[in-house]
Amino acid sequence: TINGILIGPVQDFPEGEIRPATMPDGTNLAVYNVGGTIYATADLCTHGEASLSEEGILTGNIVECPWHFGTFDVTSGAPTGMPCTVPLKTFPVKVIEDSVYVEF
Ligand code: FES
Repeated sequence: TINGILIGPVQDFPEGEIRPATMPDGTNLAVYNVGGTIYATADLCTHGEASLSEEGILTGNIVECPWHFGTFDVTSGAPTGMPCTVPLKTFPVKVIEDSVYVEF
């Protein structure tokens, strides 16, 4: 069984790009395709209020927040560059028959 919500077809999440998604409770997510694998984190940078899905720059598995150039590893949520020190919340993603689901 799938304990998650459908956020769209896999084609909507192209490799190397970031897309937004919203959970049923209103939580906004940033969804990343890193080398063909999809990851999801909370959308807001933990340093300020920047939207990573709108403004983040994805390079490999690292997203850079353009507000103060902090970075995170999107596969773990770990902060990887100052001034970010608090991890991003991450959400498990499953791709089943070309549909992308996020667990919550
Ligand atoms: Fe993201 Fe400051 S708001 S690094």
